[in-house]
Amino acid sequence: MAEDLEKEYDMSINSQLKIAIDGPAGSGKSTVAREVARRLNVVYLDTGAMYRAITLKLVRESCDLSAPGAVEPLLERTVVQILADERIMLDGEDVTGEIRTPAVNAVVSRVAELPAVRRKMVRQQQEIAAVSKGIVMEGRDIASTVMPDAPFKFYLDAALPVRARRRFLEQRDQGLSHSYENTIDEINKRDRIDSERADSPLRVTPGTAIIDTTSLTIEEVVERILQGINLQTD
Ligand code: DC
Repeated sequence: MAEDLEKEYDMSINSQLKIAIDGPAGSGKSTVAREVARRLNVVYLDTGAMYRAITLKLVRESCDLSAPGAVEPLLERTVVQILADERIMLDGEDVTGEIRTPAVNAVVSRVAELPAVRRKMVRQQQEIAAVSKGIVMEGRDIASTVMPDAPFKFYLDAALPVRARRRFLEQRDQGLSHSYENTIDEINKRDRIDSERADSPLRVTPGTAIIDTTSLTIEEVVERILQGINLQTD
């Protein structure tokens, strides 16, 4: 397993760098995390994409999320892979586009609440971290649960209207028709579920640097993170 993972990731990298970036939807963490990883030449892992892929599987199988025992057998026969070029594979099929559709958006935070789903995802993310000589991993529980020993932990946040606007523009660019009001409602609901769930909720853990990205550009946030880890790159 570890050997397979090792083949998927670029191993020519700095062994000390484990960087956790958490934050709510629209905080800018994906764009920032990807850019930080690129500059440091380390692996970038979008853990939200993994939860989205599992969600797609459960949606396709019309799985009843509230039925005890319905989810686990499905999980056992589900394989999620993230390739080095960021493509997301579900049971060998490229679902990179499909995991961002409204059908997935609508239930992903419900799926991410399920302990069996979280166990599977966290285990896989920890395996990826273990074989990566450097990684920027972003999500909701990276500092608290997946890489509690990461030497560098950041929590990105921004005012709700700003986060909703970013998400709205992102969805519009993907050709998805949504009103801004819908997006605010969706983000509000996701925030609530992500931060109130019992199993590893979104929260700031001790030793984490909080960055408010409300009035910062992507470049400014990237610079703050690089300064935070005392590294400057091109
Ligand atoms: O970052 P995103 O919007 O793609 O995340 C999709 C959902 O997955 C969101 O509801 C939060 C959840 N998630 C999580 O619970 N833990 C993570 N490490 C990453 C995402």
